Amino acid sequence: MWKKLAIASLALWFIALGTAGYFFVKGTAVKGDDGRLAVKLHRAERNLVLGEMRALLSGVQTILEASLNNDMKVVETTSMSLGMKAAVDVNPTLMAKLPLDFKSTGMGVHKRFDDLALKVHKGASKDEVIREVSDIMLTCVGCHQAYRLDEVD
Ligand code: HEC
Repeated sequence: MWKKLAIASLALWFIALGTAGYFFVKGTAVKGDDGRLAVKLHRAERNLVLGEMRALLSGVQTILEASLNNDMKVVETTSMSLGMKAAVDVNPTLMAKLPLDFKSTGMGVHKRFDDLALKVHKGASKDEVIREVSDIMLTCVGCHQAYRLDEVD
C-alpha cells in the first residue's frame, strides 16, 4: 500500500516537473495574427515587462548622449543599471510564461550591458561604445520582430 502510494507520488512529481519544464522551454506563446509570437500575460505582468523595456530605451538614449559628451562615467553607470541586476526582480510565474528563447535573448541583452560597463571602466572609447550599443540594439530589433505581448485576464 505504502509502496504504491510512494510510486504514485513519485509519478505525480515527475509529471509536475515535466510540465514545469515544458512551460519553462515553451512559455505560453502562440502565433499572433501579425506573424509574431504572442506571449500571453496578465495586465500587471505585461506592464512590468513594458516598464523594463522603457527603461532600456531610456538607458540607451542616455548612453548615446553621454558618449557624445565624452561623459564616460555616466555611460558606465547607466550601462551597469541595464545589466543583470535589472533582471532579478522578475517573478517565477512570469518567467514560466516567457518562452526560453525570449528569456535567453533578454538575459543576453542585460549581460551585454554589464560587459559594456566593464569595457568602459577599462577605458573604452566613445566610438567603441556607440558601435557596441548599435550592435546590442540589433537584438532589440530582432526580438521585437519575433514577439509581442498580449494581455489576457
Ligand atoms: C527578449 C525580447 C526583447 C528584447 C531583447 C527587447 N525587447 Fe523591447 N519589447 C519586447 C516585446 C515583446 C515588446 C512588446 C511589443 C508588442 O507587444 O507589440 C517590447 C516593447 C518594447 C517597448 C515599448 C514599451 C511600451 O511601453 O509599450 C520599448 C520602448 C522597447 N521594447 C525597447 C527595447 C529596447 C531599447 C531593447 C534593447 C535594448 C529591447 N526593447 C529589447 C521584447 C524585447
